[in-house]
Amino acid sequence: MASLHYVCSLLSILVCLITIAATGPITASPPPVKAAYWPSWAESFPPSAINTNLFTHIYYAFLMPNNVTYKFNIDNSTAIQLSNFTTTLHHKNPPVKTLFSIGGAGADTSIFVDMASHPRSRQAFIHSSIQVARKFGFDGLDLDWEFPQNPKEMHDLGLLLDEWRLALEREAKATCQPPLLFTAAVYFSVDFFVADVYRKYPVGSINRNLDWINAMCFDYHGGWDNTTTGAHAALYDPKSNLSTSYGLKSWKLKDPNSHEIGSPAVDVGPGDKGLMQFVQVGEFNRMNGATVVYDVGSVSTYSFAGATWIGYDDEISATIKVGFAQALGLRGYFFWALSYDDEWKISTQVARAWILND
Ligand SMILES: *[C@@H]1O[C@H](CO)[C@@H](O)[C@H](O)[C@H]1NC(C)=O
Ligand SMILES: *[C@@H]1O[C@H](CO)[C@@H](O)[C@H](O)[C@H]1NC(C)=O
Ligand SMILES: *[C@@H]1O[C@H](CO)[C@@H](O)[C@H](O)[C@H]1NC(C)=O
Ligand SMILES: *[C@@H]1O[C@H](CO)[C@@H](O)[C@H](O)[C@H]1NC(C)=O
Ligand SMILES: *[C@@H]1O[C@H](CO)[C@@H](O)[C@H](O)[C@H]1NC(C)=O
Repeated sequence: MASLHYVCSLLSILVCLITIAATGPITASPPPVKAAYWPSWAESFPPSAINTNLFTHIYYAFLMPNNVTYKFNIDNSTAIQLSNFTTTLHHKNPPVKTLFSIGGAGADTSIFVDMASHPRSRQAFIHSSIQVARKFGFDGLDLDWEFPQNPKEMHDLGLLLDEWRLALEREAKATCQPPLLFTAAVYFSVDFFVADVYRKYPVGSINRNLDWINAMCFDYHGGWDNTTTGAHAALYDPKSNLSTSYGLKSWKLKDPNSHEIGSPAVDVGPGDKGLMQFVQVGEFNRMNGATVVYDVGSVSTYSFAGATWIGYDDEISATIKVGFAQALGLRGYFFWALSYDDEWKISTQVARAWILND
């Protein structure tokens, strides 16, 4: 698996991820990935409401293993929801591939830390994840561990990915099925250069084992830095390395096997305090007569009304980021989260832009 493709994705409002794909050696470009995470708690937005013309892969968000056995205990209502998710999306016209994502920003990461630190718990977790994927008809699985906190945890992550890939290959052979897709959501940069504890991802293991990664190119600034405004998912930032262009280049430079480089893509930030969904930003702007400004320097949009300032991505900045991703040879893009778009405005614009540039 020689080449890494980086894909960055766009979230409708707040979050952006980059995807790096480790695919076969220098072959014709693989088909683009147009992915989005589906928040399983979004009851008003069932799988049947997903416009599959705009996507190739939809992630179920999220599942977590038990904190003692490291196996997945799927209760009945979740089981119904998982079956409904895969069946609905596989029967849509056009169909899309389905993956389930393990973890998420709100997950208890101590479970990952403990699980990944012992061979037996890694095996229990890996085997259970494959069972869940097959039982409910998924095409793949995704690890969203936010985030390993130190070099030891990064090392354990590398071991986990090696063993997981091996188990996936063995299971595929034994059952005569295509291997499950295997991806991960990762920090926007290959290393944590602003954190108290410096650490970097096990790039070799990531490149060997994953089909692609989703780099989260957002959350650079937000309500937590309460002294200045800042673009939440800037493509460029001349004053700091908190930008998508820097993060994607770091993935490329640190990867000795990378032939194709991708760059980022879109922004949007996940939601804690101060985070709004795209549809809510539109409502705010209309109701408050906000001034909307597109910032060419950072490739982002902001609006303000009175003392309120909102940084976000819209159709314009998302389109430019997707063009950037394509110019860098990235494999695609993805959004967090599917249901935060405003009547598919960004999703449609970005899908169209990708086709035009292809
Ligand atoms: C596992 O989770 C349960 C429920 O949240 C908690 O009560 C228990 O202390 C946890 N056990 C361990 C070993 O973390
Ligand atoms: C869950 O489903 C199983 C099998 O379908 C059934 O035997 C069990 O009673 C159900 N449990 C609950 C709590 O409904
Ligand atoms: C999925 O759930 C929806 C809503 O509950 C239902 O209308 C639909 O028939 C289900 N689809 C499948 C394939 O089970
Ligand atoms: C601003 O952030 C600082 C540092 O995180 C915190 O101590 C302070 O309470 C915050 N101020 C407000 C008004 O939120
Ligand atoms: C960004 O990172 C590069 C190298 O990784 C470093 O040389 C440069 O000083 C950094 N820039 C800022 C503004 O921190």
